[in-house]
Amino acid sequence: MCGIVGYVGHRDAQSILVEGLKRLEYRGYDSAGLALLRDGGLTVVKTAGRIAALEAKLNWNLPPSYIGIAHTRWATHGAPNEINAHPHQDASGRIALVHNGIIENFDTLKKFLHREGIECLSETDTEVLAQLIGYFYDGDLEKAVRTALNDVQGTYGIAVVCADEPDKIVAARKGSPLIIGIGENENLIASDAAALLAHTSQVIYLADGEIAKITCDGFRTTTLDALPVSKDVEEIEWTLEEIELGGYEHFMLKEIFEQPDAMRDGLRGRLDAGAGTITLGGISKFTRELVHAKRFIMTACGTAFHAGLIGEYFFEDVARVPCETEYASEFRYRNPIIEDQTVVIAVSQSGETVDTLAAVREAKEKGALVLGLVNVVGSTLSRETDAGIYLHVGPEIGVASTKAFIGQVAVLSMLGLFLGRRHHLSQSQANHLMQALDRIPDQMKEVLSLSDQILSVAQQYHHQNNWLYLGRGYNYPVALEGALKIKEISYIHAEGLPAAEMKHGPIALISEGMPVVFIATKGNQYEKILGNIHEVKSRGGHVIAVATEGDHAVRKLCDHIFYVPDCPEPLQPLLTIIPLQLLAYHTAVLRGCNVDKPRNLAKSVTVE
Ligand code: AGP
Repeated sequence: MCGIVGYVGHRDAQSILVEGLKRLEYRGYDSAGLALLRDGGLTVVKTAGRIAALEAKLNWNLPPSYIGIAHTRWATHGAPNEINAHPHQDASGRIALVHNGIIENFDTLKKFLHREGIECLSETDTEVLAQLIGYFYDGDLEKAVRTALNDVQGTYGIAVVCADEPDKIVAARKGSPLIIGIGENENLIASDAAALLAHTSQVIYLADGEIAKITCDGFRTTTLDALPVSKDVEEIEWTLEEIELGGYEHFMLKEIFEQPDAMRDGLRGRLDAGAGTITLGGISKFTRELVHAKRFIMTACGTAFHAGLIGEYFFEDVARVPCETEYASEFRYRNPIIEDQTVVIAVSQSGETVDTLAAVREAKEKGALVLGLVNVVGSTLSRETDAGIYLHVGPEIGVASTKAFIGQVAVLSMLGLFLGRRHHLSQSQANHLMQALDRIPDQMKEVLSLSDQILSVAQQYHHQNNWLYLGRGYNYPVALEGALKIKEISYIHAEGLPAAEMKHGPIALISEGMPVVFIATKGNQYEKILGNIHEVKSRGGHVIAVATEGDHAVRKLCDHIFYVPDCPEPLQPLLTIIPLQLLAYHTAVLRGCNVDKPRNLAKSVTVE
């Protein structure tokens, strides 16, 4: 989620590092910084904002430096400001580190350092690692990095420099990519090949658990246990644009396929299915208020509203707490009644949506406890709510929200389980759902393998200009979200409805060959939805169904079927939405639409 660049060689490191950061900026960042070794000293320059802000802050008249590291941050721990920006230094100021990933046990390590008299200056997990390396440093940087990493739990891609060893960069990887670029009397390290392509196409991909010592004339790779590892030099064959897209044609498709990893990141450090526990640090100080809340109100816009609606069903069905969902644009103006012990939960990817911000202010004005479920750390909404939970799904570039929706539903599911266990949910019931939630990322990969089949269905219907999406229960919000996806990127008029609503008017729309998408997975309204499918088929509609693996009964009724793995009904939206995302994506591409930047739309609606 963050960008790392390092250089050691015979050219001016500062300009190479800045250019490298610019190559990584496409993924959206909130702060940046670099560290340079020069004349036995270490210079660190950091700033909130974009690379241009960093560039403006640098002194371009200093003597050249030939070694340095740089970083663009997508904040996960701590607001996006200068003090939290990377590189982070140890207490001596002689060591600097940049990091991509999440140190899960940073709080334990921070307490250890405090006992050793070492205080951190920032809110970040990364600074704890820099301080730990400084604590172990005794003249051998590589050894200090190795020792510190043996105490770390979590994921990292790091690059470290030390003023007392001005000829080397030490890098290490576990769960976050790192690539070494091989040059002529110079070498580079980066989190993404895009930062290397201007200098070399010869690269080494570090593997998890490997450490590299990089100098201007070579590199050495070892394991965390100091065992040597031989690496093959590989050739980058991608163009720069292909690299930014990770080989995908559009960011939206890349983000759809990132969903298993994005969800795993959102669960990390929070869901312990083995122990049967949910840990949500961001709201822990309000546990009492949440447990005694008499009513919850979800408020959001667009896709986030649909996620909130799923949360409503989950809270009432599983946690047995009263909950309702409101469009933020309506909530903010209708003078809502907010009684004592009401909790408002604002859901937003960007944290900047003007209607959702206004709804938060209205709720606070009326005395509610307000939580924020946001993806962008340090966003306005995250700063104006009383507490919150970050989605941790990484930057979402495509205007049509996909992995953020998954992150919102996953966090709401964990919050619902957290509340359920403090009400009527037994440990065994909670364990069943937690274990199922933990399996979802792997099950998502099975659903993603349907992409070619979904493309063939899109090829049959992409010329149709009117579609219906129908679902019941937890899959009713999925019908709304599926309709929104195809609407916003392919400009087709699509409507999502509770399937039972068909007989109250919309069934008049059914015409010969009209595509009607049903989410018809196994659940407590399964027989009813089969009846709705019959209603559509008998009037000439073409039925495209999302169904549960192994359900052959529904196959006979439908024209096309996408099977998803079975899972508990409250978790089905995390799987049933994926075929609808892919159906919208392929349809939009076939219609020649601009998938990542659809007409009339913005990624964040910051104006009324
Ligand atoms: C969803 O694909 C759209 N981009 C839009 O509906 C979006 O969900 C809505 O504007 C809310 O944005 P937010 O999550 O950043 O608040």
